[in-house]
Amino acid sequence: MNLLKDTIKEIILSEKSKSEKLQSICDFLEAQISYYDWVGFYFRNGNKEELKLAEYTGEPTEHTIIPFGKGICGQVAVSNENFVVQDVSEQDNYISCGWKVKSEIVIPIFVGGENIGQIDIDSHTANPFTNQDEELLEFVCSKVATLF
Ligand code: SME
Repeated sequence: MNLLKDTIKEIILSEKSKSEKLQSICDFLEAQISYYDWVGFYFRNGNKEELKLAEYTGEPTEHTIIPFGKGICGQVAVSNENFVVQDVSEQDNYISCGWKVKSEIVIPIFVGGENIGQIDIDSHTANPFTNQDEELLEFVCSKVATLF
């Protein structure tokens, strides 16, 4: 866990562009954690009440724009709270990105108290997430916030 955090810090402090850093974080998390199968960032699309897909690792998705309130991601844009879904089949307000996805975790990113976006992770494993995932991803989001 601490080694993962150290690498996240190194990526944040590197000479790369913001976009390259976000891409590196996606690639790194997907490679390091076996049950992270899709890792991406969504950010608020200007002043619109919608999220726009930014950097990601994994299969391309058609859900590049998500209205606030829709799906797991859109709900987090409104609730400002972590959303851990251990079994997506139990969710009514869910946008499927493929039949393989069994679970999902979304953690919001705050800049100056404002919810500017989120990290979204899909897993092909059911019930994989623990408090450690939330803790790690909250750390990632706090570091990503420093880029804005
Ligand atoms: N499943 C998400 C949509 C985004 S994809 O997971 C990449 C949702 O319900 O908001």
